[in-house]
Amino acid sequence: MITVNENFLKLKAGYLFPEIGRRAAAFARANPKAAIIRLGIGDVTEPLPTAVCTAMRQAVEDMSTAERFCGYGPEQGYEFLRDAIAENDYRARGAEVLPNEIFISDGAKCDTGNLQEIFGLENIVAVTDPVYPVYVDTNVMAGRTGQADSFGRYDKIVYMPCTADNNFVPDLPSEPVDLIYLCYPNNPTGAVATKEQLKKWVDYAKAHKAVILFDAAYEAFIQDDSIPHSIYEVEGARQVAIEFRSFSKTAGFTGVRCAFTVVPEELVAYTKEGKPVPLKPVWNRRHCTKFNGVSYITQRGAQAVYSKEGQKQVRQIISIYMKNAAMMRQSLSKLGYAVYGGKNAPYIWLKTPNGMGSWEFFDLLLQKAHVVGTPGAGFGAAGEGYFRLSAFNHPDKVTEAMERFACL
Ligand code: MLT
Repeated sequence: MITVNENFLKLKAGYLFPEIGRRAAAFARANPKAAIIRLGIGDVTEPLPTAVCTAMRQAVEDMSTAERFCGYGPEQGYEFLRDAIAENDYRARGAEVLPNEIFISDGAKCDTGNLQEIFGLENIVAVTDPVYPVYVDTNVMAGRTGQADSFGRYDKIVYMPCTADNNFVPDLPSEPVDLIYLCYPNNPTGAVATKEQLKKWVDYAKAHKAVILFDAAYEAFIQDDSIPHSIYEVEGARQVAIEFRSFSKTAGFTGVRCAFTVVPEELVAYTKEGKPVPLKPVWNRRHCTKFNGVSYITQRGAQAVYSKEGQKQVRQIISIYMKNAAMMRQSLSKLGYAVYGGKNAPYIWLKTPNGMGSWEFFDLLLQKAHVVGTPGAGFGAAGEGYFRLSAFNHPDKVTEAMERFACL
């Protein structure tokens, strides 16, 4: 008899964004005249930077010649892209990352979901609450957790509440943990972590022989020069942290798919007998077995993000979204909402009015204003009573959405 992986049956609800899509689609079917504005999933709306398109067209030309045609590329990514990343994303900011520590992939969602595979099932996982659901769900699927309680909190996961009181950066856990997921700039709260705050985590990980999985998918949105873009800007982080980055939000690649993960040479995990095992070869083994690399055309497009024109165009696109975020912050504050985030991240995190439940507020906003957002409860129990709005949309749509908020 074939049996099912029962860990999957522990998962509480459907994945958050398809559920939101389903509710929005049902509303659209019932109200075909409603002009729905989508500020739910953080999906980009601006076209790809011209420099990226030019590079990708050239790459298609390469592929049409016998001399420059490429079949399977290196699973870890082409050197031209890994070199550009090491130089521009790290060396230029004083962080040392070598090209051969970079693994190119098709998305930070896959990488943050897959990386846990190389760790033992007995490890205690710590996540912030609220949290990007992929970190939790993939650990549930792997069997690293027990069942969920009525708040959707899984047994054997340590939840670290992030509230306005701690500026949405968690305190160190009081019980020992092994695998720590941090995301800054944060999805969903839009909060950022200072170097001093990250240093505390790096020191904790060193002292407890833990590993930090640091999701920096939104680093390009940082406006404040004092905020670190990479955990490797923090001394000692190479010994304890893996970092994830993505071209999705940075350069409009949500539909193109390109990201990368950094696994430093000196990072180790331990056998049950306490013998240190370098993780880079382990991740390399996993990556080469399950992944055949990102297409040459895509990687040429990603490389162009680092050209002079590419950088200028990317900055222009990001400034469109960050102007949206500033406008949203201002409009919502004027309307009396308590508003967080949106200064160094493309997400606004607001308190629902009069203690309303976050799904209740989702329904109200959809029914009355025809605006889609994301209920905070979808990101964890501590997200209840909050609501996320994404700044990824055309400025005129965002302006209109804010006008509709005024009519709620
Ligand atoms: C989000 O809206 O949280 C993101 O778009 C999800 C993702 O990047 O997978």
